[in-house]
Amino acid sequence: MALEIVHYGDPILRKVCKPVEDFSTLSPLLDDMFDTMYEANGIGLAANQVGVDLNLFVIDISDIESEGESIHIFINGKIMDSGGESWFEEGCLSLPEVRLEVKRPEFIEFKYQDESGKEHKQKIDGLLARAIQHEMDHLNGIFIVDRVSSAVKMGVQKELKMIKKGTVTRAKDRKALVF
Ligand code: NI
Repeated sequence: MALEIVHYGDPILRKVCKPVEDFSTLSPLLDDMFDTMYEANGIGLAANQVGVDLNLFVIDISDIESEGESIHIFINGKIMDSGGESWFEEGCLSLPEVRLEVKRPEFIEFKYQDESGKEHKQKIDGLLARAIQHEMDHLNGIFIVDRVSSAVKMGVQKELKMIKKGTVTRAKDRKALVF
């Protein structure tokens, strides 16, 4: 079942989300998060974007940039190391109508748990590394507008105000990747 996506201005998107401790009850939430992400044409979604205060997110970048099947669940993630530099235009499901060129490290070393609680550590680059960094930002209360210069942020003040007021709830433009 698709859930409602919460937008910029909602305090849950400014929180550092709590670690997952009980893995046995996650399954229905994960199903709903995938449904929500697909319905919104997103490629990633963090739990607090559907109002849930837990450190977990889902990603599906299958068939984008010929990644092939690439569907992921990341729980209690932590970026251990990162390097390189890349620019990419990002959209965000919690910031409809906003598109920003965001600079991020090109590759990361990422530690996380899967839905059974098993721990993994992996070196990741490309679009998956970008999507993970975007979602980890959400789980730490950070938006893409916090990742750009104040001049660039000024340029989207009008959109931010409208989103806060609830005037814009869904992006019309689907060209950028949203997560
Ligand atoms: Ni986002």
